[in-house]
Amino acid sequence: MPNEEAFNVLLIGSGGREHALAWGLSKSPLLGQLYVSPGNPGTAIYGINVPDLNISDHEQVADFVSSQNIGLTIIGPEQPLVDGLTDFLEDRGHFVFGPTSGAAQLEGSKSFAKDLMQKYEIPTAAFEIFDRNEWNKASDYVSQNETWPLVVKADGLAGGKGVFICKDKTEAADALEFLQNDPGLSTASYRIVIEEFMEGEEVSVFAICDGNSAKFLAQAQDHKRIFDEDKGPNTGGMGAYLPAPVVSDHDISHIMREIVEPTVNAMAEEGMPFKGILYCGLMITKNGPKVVEYNCRFGDPECQVIIPSLKTDLLEIMMAAIHQKLEYIDIELSQNQFFTCVILASEGYPRSVKTGKEIKGIKEAAALENVLVFQSGTSMSSDENNVVITSAGRVLSVVATDETLAGSINLAYEAVAKISFEGMQYRTDIGLKGLRRL
Ligand code: AMP
Ligand code: GLY
Repeated sequence: MPNEEAFNVLLIGSGGREHALAWGLSKSPLLGQLYVSPGNPGTAIYGINVPDLNISDHEQVADFVSSQNIGLTIIGPEQPLVDGLTDFLEDRGHFVFGPTSGAAQLEGSKSFAKDLMQKYEIPTAAFEIFDRNEWNKASDYVSQNETWPLVVKADGLAGGKGVFICKDKTEAADALEFLQNDPGLSTASYRIVIEEFMEGEEVSVFAICDGNSAKFLAQAQDHKRIFDEDKGPNTGGMGAYLPAPVVSDHDISHIMREIVEPTVNAMAEEGMPFKGILYCGLMITKNGPKVVEYNCRFGDPECQVIIPSLKTDLLEIMMAAIHQKLEYIDIELSQNQFFTCVILASEGYPRSVKTGKEIKGIKEAAALENVLVFQSGTSMSSDENNVVITSAGRVLSVVATDETLAGSINLAYEAVAKISFEGMQYRTDIGLKGLRRL
């Protein structure tokens, strides 16, 4: 019998994160029809993909929301949030899960985030901000600096290309020159942030926020570099696992009290209440946890381990956040279970990639008990074979769960071994940092 309280949902995005969200949403008794835009062959299992909707045309999205009677729009990636899609839909009376453009500045502008942290005494690296017309001042600052490495960052969204860890003056000068001259980053590097290098281990902490309060959702560890042992260039993320032993339950209480709650209070104080997922990228330093960056959405691949570990209904949690009723719900996570996600990527990633390769073994891998396979850079071939082929850098997320971290890692790699496509690359050390700590 259909649930009378069920409503239609529009999920925006096309990554492994959105496939995991679609999978999580599909379990909810509150879900009516799910639409995913643009979606991928994985999200099509749970809903109707809408590849033709132009997400940057807010009017078009609002028309779709009205015409399909959408009760909730969930925005996966950062760009539409920073661009103000939430503001546009909310102004027209629609419900949206994801912060307004003002609140999304926490991710969209590093100088905004740093100024906020300074004003509200939230622990982060010491820093200086330089405007576009102050490049000479930035160069002087770098040439007079004595403690290395130093971190140079573009202010805005730069798709992972805007952060430089510089070991000496030459590298810092090169980074400044790159940011000043790269046309692709011209808006992102309208300002630059130069900050102290923090030593330690990184962890991602996720909280769900309703504008006034925040509840802890999960903590996970990402693997940003392309190669084993954190070598090679940065990527969108090559794997994740949770819970990461680098932080204890006690540490999480401290992080909620000293970082997450003060951030949510600060945004409310500034008149830009934060609603949605607050993702704090933290460095666990010898002086305690410090903020490396904020993101205003679920991480990818962290989402692929968070959603399977969540016991409470995802839609119920999201609606509680929207209606400022977070305090009335308990968020239950799997106890004594570890989750590991290994990303399978195309040859050449994170630089230019070769695509259109047939992918074999998804069904066989997903048939293993306690294994899920989420799709991101995939599409259906246009020939008569109609097979799944690669279409981007990050292709699949292979997720496994077990009572031990070692067990979840082993199972994830057992599933990976069943999948193949030409040029497939993946890291073989996902979760190893966690194993070394246990
Ligand atoms: P971001 O985009 O700001 O998260 O930076 C990308 C990556 O650069 C982070 O995940 C860190 O690994 C590294 N990073 C950024 N800022 C710092 C810092 N101040 N100290 C050490 N590493 C950093
Ligand atoms: N996993 C990193 C990110 O989503 O930004």
